[in-house]
Amino acid sequence: MKVLGILGSPYKNGGSAQLLFSALKSAEIEGAKTEFVSVYDGEIKACIGCIQDEEPGCKFPCIFDDYGKVILEKINLADGIIFSTPIYWFAPSGPLKTLIDRMTCLENMVSYGESSYMEGKIVGAIAVGADAGGPWTCGYLITALTSMGAIIPPWGIAYSYKGKNAIQDDKALMDAINIGLLVTKMIKILKGESSILTYIEDKKLLEKIRKEVLKDIQYFENSIKDKNYGRKTISRSSI
Ligand SMILES: Cc1cc2nc3c(=O)[nH]c(=O)nc-3n(C[C@H](O)[C@H](O)[C@H](O)COP(=O)(O)O)c2cc1C
Repeated sequence: MKVLGILGSPYKNGGSAQLLFSALKSAEIEGAKTEFVSVYDGEIKACIGCIQDEEPGCKFPCIFDDYGKVILEKINLADGIIFSTPIYWFAPSGPLKTLIDRMTCLENMVSYGESSYMEGKIVGAIAVGADAGGPWTCGYLITALTSMGAIIPPWGIAYSYKGKNAIQDDKALMDAINIGLLVTKMIKILKGESSILTYIEDKKLLEKIRKEVLKDIQYFENSIKDKNYGRKTISRSSI
C-alpha cells in the first residue's frame, strides 16, 4: 500500500506540512509505505489544454518533461494520495492547482479506451490558513479528484486556521491523523482485506504524532536557517 503526500506549500515546516506529515505518520501506523513531495521542489509547467485540440494529445505521462511529470508518475504508482495545501485566497496554492490541471493526462486516458488512471485511488485533502476558506479549499480538491475517478474516504478532509501553529490545533490534527488512517484502511478494503471505517479519537496517538512531527520539522527549520529552505529532496523515511 503506497500513500503519496503532496505538499502545496513553499514551507516544509509550515502548517500544511505539519498536518500532512501527521497524516503520513498515521498511514504508516496503519501499514502504508509513504512518500512525500512538494510542488515547490521543481518547475511544474502550466497545462496548455491539449485536450481541446482537434487531435487531442492529452495522455499520460503529459507532453512536458518537467518536475510535474515526476509527480504525475508518482501519483500513477500510488494507491492513495493525501494533498495538503495552504489556503491562498480561498483556494489551493497556484502550483498545486497547476498540478491538478496537469493531472488531466491521468484522467483523459478514458479518451484512449482505458480507464482514468485516477480511478479507484483513495484521496484525502488538508488545507491550512489564517482565517477562512478551509471547506472551500478542501471542497475544491475533493470535487476535482472524485471527478477524475478517485475515491474520498469518510472524514476525508481536514482544515485549520492556526497557520504555522496548525500542529497545535487538536481538532485539525486528529482530523489529519484520521485521514491517514482512513485512506489506508480504504485501500485495504479495496484490496479485499477487512477494515472498519470509523473516526477515532485517540489523545495518546495525537500526542505521539505531534511530538514526532515537531521533531521532524526541526530538520526543515535548520534548512531554512541554512538558506536552502528544505528544498533538498529527501524521502519521508529519512526525516
Ligand atoms: C497569497 C496568500 C493568500 C492567502 N489567502 C488566505 C485565505 O484566503 N484564507 C486564509 O485563511 N488564509 C490565507 N492566507 C494565509 C495562509 O494560508 C497561511 O499563512 C498559512 O499558514 C499558509 O500555510 P503554510 O504554513 O503551510 O505555508 C493567505 C496567504 C497568502 C500568502
